[in-house]
Amino acid sequence: MPEYRIEATGATLGAVVTGGRLADLDEAGFELLLDAFHEHALLIFPDQHLEPEQQVAFARRFGEIEHLYGDSGVVPISNQRHDGSLLDDDNPAMQIMIGNEGWHTDSSYMSLAAKASVLSAQVVPGRGGQTEWADMRAAYEALDEETRERIAVLSARHSLRHSQAKIGHTDPGAMLYGFEGGDPPLRPLVKLHPVTGRPSLFIGRHAYGIPGLSSEASESLLAGLLDFACRPPRIWRHDWQPGDLVIWDNRCLLHRARPYDHTEPRVMRHTRIAGDEATEWAPGLADTA
Ligand SMILES: [Fe+2]
Repeated sequence: MPEYRIEATGATLGAVVTGGRLADLDEAGFELLLDAFHEHALLIFPDQHLEPEQQVAFARRFGEIEHLYGDSGVVPISNQRHDGSLLDDDNPAMQIMIGNEGWHTDSSYMSLAAKASVLSAQVVPGRGGQTEWADMRAAYEALDEETRERIAVLSARHSLRHSQAKIGHTDPGAMLYGFEGGDPPLRPLVKLHPVTGRPSLFIGRHAYGIPGLSSEASESLLAGLLDFACRPPRIWRHDWQPGDLVIWDNRCLLHRARPYDHTEPRVMRHTRIAGDEATEWAPGLADTA
């Protein structure tokens, strides 16, 4: 078995893993990485250069690939077309990527939220375009007792249509958002991790409309929690190099892309691992009536 070296970042989340090739990952190596994944929630593997099918094979160790991601299991996150031309900022796909510059957790707007996400870099811009993550376990621990008691009984709706509308993206139809367009799921603000049992804040840009609060009070509470949560030492930023691969736990982290000059290409490969029905499923509002 290769000697994986797992070095914590120094923030409350994340570790950099070197010394092994994920393409050759065996069961003992996976068990080691799975423990590290549950401890650090974000694992960064520099210089892996996996082929798409190798990335999917790695992701599948952690669970089923989200069905929206099709047969290949790899989705390009890219501002560059196959012919080399670059997307304009008003391109609908670009609008989604620009939206991803706000703190979020993947697929929380779907009935089955994501367990984990894998992202690897192919082409990176000269400046910017990093990814940042924020530790919602540490954020929950840092809350005062009064706030913890207040939010313990609250839930929020999650909607990609809502979060895109907030940044001025006119709804072009449910298909483009990649979800079925049903009622937005309702998710508790505090999520218990199904493996570690640790509580974390479950918020982000898709969250809105807390039942029992006015829309203004809901917005104010969610914005305040987000602002509190996403601060050092609870955040980590990765400056991508081509060939880097990361995996993170969407059940307890938020993440966001950082801006970059859109006249330069940024080409990433994304694979999303579905949550478990027992712990990441949330009914739409109609189902809760
Ligand atoms: Fe994302």
